[in-house]
Amino acid sequence: MRSSLIAGNWKMNGSLESVTALVDGIKSGDRGNAELAVCPPSVFLMKIGGMLAESGIALGAQNVCQHAAGAYTGEIAASMLKEAGCRYAIVGHSERRSIYGESDAMVAARFQMAIESGIEPILCVGETLEERQQEKTIEVVNRQIDAALAASGIDAFAKAVIAYEPVWAIGTGQVATPEQAQDVHASIRQKLAGLNAEVADQLQILYGGSMNPGNAAELLAQPDIDGGLIGGASLKADDFLTICKAAS
Ligand code: PGA
Repeated sequence: MRSSLIAGNWKMNGSLESVTALVDGIKSGDRGNAELAVCPPSVFLMKIGGMLAESGIALGAQNVCQHAAGAYTGEIAASMLKEAGCRYAIVGHSERRSIYGESDAMVAARFQMAIESGIEPILCVGETLEERQQEKTIEVVNRQIDAALAASGIDAFAKAVIAYEPVWAIGTGQVATPEQAQDVHASIRQKLAGLNAEVADQLQILYGGSMNPGNAAELLAQPDIDGGLIGGASLKADDFLTICKAAS
């Protein structure tokens, strides 16, 4: 059986004081038995990594550079994320794709760098509202996954996570129905099963997009939804813990 993973994507939120309080709150609360991860802004990674030692809660970065080192101002190398204690790195978040112009090929290169550095990429995929209305959801998601497959091959997905995040549901309060999400998750798993059934079967596919304490249980009850990538609701310890318990 696949275990559940609930990962908090804090995006560009918080201060040293507030993120410290958030981690203390998550550590001290009842979180059930799902796997947990938090992805703080990179400037807080070392600090939060230290606080998470021995907690069983994993650390993740919000991105990773596709290059090993050198003249890439503003970027962070996978080796640095390893040193900070990261197990995961989000790659291809829709905000990176749409605001910072990260292409499928660039996301695939970042995915590959994470894989070869021993960091588990959380590959975000998902369609815009327009693409959904044009019934292109599966086509878009497949294209995004194919880029990573071309760069890294199916075996890389044994050490990766996929997050299906419909762009229209991110930060909008508008959530995919459990059926809409399940359909896409099942399609992703089926696609990968065609390449390697075992890898597809053990792959954690998370849902992201306005998951909150009120809707988490029915989403997480779907057979192919193995957890969540949580934005807004991960910034309050109580809300995050309620979602974690729903995944237990
Ligand atoms: P949201 O963000 O939960 O605030 O919609 C999810 C994400 O962008 O990862």
